[in-house]
Amino acid sequence: MVNYKELGLVNSRDMFAKAVKGGYAIPAFNFNNMEQMQAIIQACVETKSPVILQISSGARKYANQTILRYMAQGAVEYAKELGCNIPIVLHLDHGDTFELCKSCIEYGFSSVMIDGSHLPYEENVALTKQVVEYAHQYDVTVEGELGVLAGVEDDVAAEKSHYTQPSEVEDFVKKTGVDSLAISIGTSHGANKFKPEQCTRDEKGVLIPPPLRFDILEEIEKRIPRFPIVLHGSSSVPQDKVATINQYGGAIKDAVGIPEDQLRKAAKSAVCKVNIDSDGRLAMTAAVREVLATKPAEFDPRKYLGPARDSLKNLYMHKVKNVLGSDNKA
Ligand code: G3H
Ligand code: 13P
Ligand code: ZN
Repeated sequence: MVNYKELGLVNSRDMFAKAVKGGYAIPAFNFNNMEQMQAIIQACVETKSPVILQISSGARKYANQTILRYMAQGAVEYAKELGCNIPIVLHLDHGDTFELCKSCIEYGFSSVMIDGSHLPYEENVALTKQVVEYAHQYDVTVEGELGVLAGVEDDVAAEKSHYTQPSEVEDFVKKTGVDSLAISIGTSHGANKFKPEQCTRDEKGVLIPPPLRFDILEEIEKRIPRFPIVLHGSSSVPQDKVATINQYGGAIKDAVGIPEDQLRKAAKSAVCKVNIDSDGRLAMTAAVREVLATKPAEFDPRKYLGPARDSLKNLYMHKVKNVLGSDNKA
């Protein structure tokens, strides 16, 4: 058993309390390799932002749990070396079983998500409560989820029943003891968040997605005032990155994300954690494709992963300063 405190990590409790009070949100950036981790830390040190390093179960399988633990410890030391001891959370993204959450806690995670959102309500409550009871023994914070994020694969994506039902949140939070709650108000995972027919188009033909359901968010806030709320699926899918990918041989069609002004508005409310993964994937892929296409003789991975890391860093700094408002909050 490794305690996250020995690794220099923190849980999300104080971070969230300050973010809710201060009207900003903490970035939760997914990572699974060294360049992504370096870009996140460089960006957050430079902007003096607290940060959540987020690992999905797929990322954990890809990178290996032991290596990830040392990478997180390395991230803490790297931040100090760069000159700012920013608060860093190591968080399990979309944990789906008690056993996975337990194992992550044993490997040094300071925060876990148990995603029971696809289960019937009472089963979600029971599973989430079980994880909370275990995690809190080690002062590890827990994120639960109510409501199912819409997805383009999902034929009933626009059905109201997929949004978080405000009438359930108070009971869920009370019964489970969770520290934060992920909700569904119209965001979704990936780079194709909406079907084209769900969107309108601007004069240039760019897809404009339907707005987030701020009415549901407000209703939730009324029922659990100042309780930390999490937004998943919050990539904005920058169209310049999509264009670069497609210019250099990619084939990404009808990609559309959540407009940044809507995320900025959400960050000013009780939304205190915003999950961003796809935008980083797009930034990295665009940079790698551009180098490989324009410098075909290049075969040193540092020559394309280096520019990809720089591009990621710029993206993360932009998110921190211009979207989430977490700069100078470390
Ligand atoms: O919400 C999911 C994250 O973007 C992680 O994705 O399971 O492909 O690592 P992944
Ligand atoms: P995006 O796919 O919008 O980046 O969402 C990531 C996420 O929610 C990770 O949990
Ligand atoms: Zn997610």
